[in-house]
Amino acid sequence: MTITGRTKLVGIIGYPIRHSLSPLMHNAAFEATGLDCCYVPLEVEPRRIRSAVTALRLLGFCGFNVTIPHKLRIMALVDRLSPEARMIGAVNTVEIRRGRMIGHNTDGRGFLRAFREETGESIAGKRVMILGAGGAARAVAFQWALEGGAVVMIANRSSARAAALVRDLRRTVVLCSVFVLPWTEASLIEGVRQADIIINATSVGMRPDDPPLLPPNVLQPHHIVCDLIYKSSVTLLLDQAKAAGAKAVNGLGMLVHQGALAFEIWTGRRPPINVMREALQQGIAGREVNQQEIDNSGPIQ
Ligand SMILES: NC(=O)c1ccc[n+]([C@@H]2O[C@H](COP(=O)([O-])OP(=O)(O)OC[C@H]3O[C@@H](n4cnc5c(N)ncnc54)[C@H](OP(=O)(O)O)[C@@H]3O)[C@@H](O)[C@H]2O)c1
Repeated sequence: MTITGRTKLVGIIGYPIRHSLSPLMHNAAFEATGLDCCYVPLEVEPRRIRSAVTALRLLGFCGFNVTIPHKLRIMALVDRLSPEARMIGAVNTVEIRRGRMIGHNTDGRGFLRAFREETGESIAGKRVMILGAGGAARAVAFQWALEGGAVVMIANRSSARAAALVRDLRRTVVLCSVFVLPWTEASLIEGVRQADIIINATSVGMRPDDPPLLPPNVLQPHHIVCDLIYKSSVTLLLDQAKAAGAKAVNGLGMLVHQGALAFEIWTGRRPPINVMREALQQGIAGREVNQQEIDNSGPIQ
């Protein structure tokens, strides 16, 4: 990549940011499409977000992605919100046009594109149980309810957050039945029994010593189990799903498609989906090898 005075800049703000795979994915996409653009990771401390956003506007960035912990705070700093971002209550992509900032959210649509692509299933009339009520859960739940899902059940460790999501969904969607499942073993077992699809939208499962989210032997072969975690190709939940003969889908496809939608917003061009997926797969594989090397290297001398 050759950077010149004409190169257009996009990036991602988060804290921390060094583990983000988005630069790999977007720079591969710019290279494949021949666009003179560069995507840079930008570590922004929460207390500096206002100044950082002002700087991005002044420096002529075309847009940027937003990740943890800034997805809510950014909403008050943009000039306008897309209907999706307003409904979900979080922004993951900002477009800068003639100095004005528009906040979007591509997570929900990204998830559903990946779900359809990887399972070949429609969501019409389907019942989903979502574990989690944070930003990702909100995006997936709204998209599911808006695009024809029949039932959305929300189970979250903090019951107030689950109740708030259910209240917001009920205000927006009328044709989908939405309710809270208490975060207890009995209720999760009942939720799995009623669900066609189970989605993990919590951060539980990223570390090998994380506890299981579901009790053993509750999943059945007819279930589709999605784990939004993408930092590792396998998680305990997906292992449980495979052992039960259920379909198991990880978060990589969602990451690709939410990124592809952002690419379209910034460039107006068709995203090279396969190039983006391959760049991410290589990034994740490299990380898994590094982690194994660390695990096998024993105590530091
Ligand atoms: N594949 C993709 O493209 C994509 C995109 C976005 C996010 N994600 C993934 O989705 C997950 C959630 O991200 P987010 O942005 O929604 O984060 P978030 O807004 O911080 O929400 C975190 C969620 O995890 C729950 N949680 C955290 N620790 C828990 C524990 N020990 N036990 C039970 N629940 C726990 C939280 O419950 P409380 O409300 O009780 O704290 C909350 O529901 C992460 O793994 C992230 O990597 C994937």
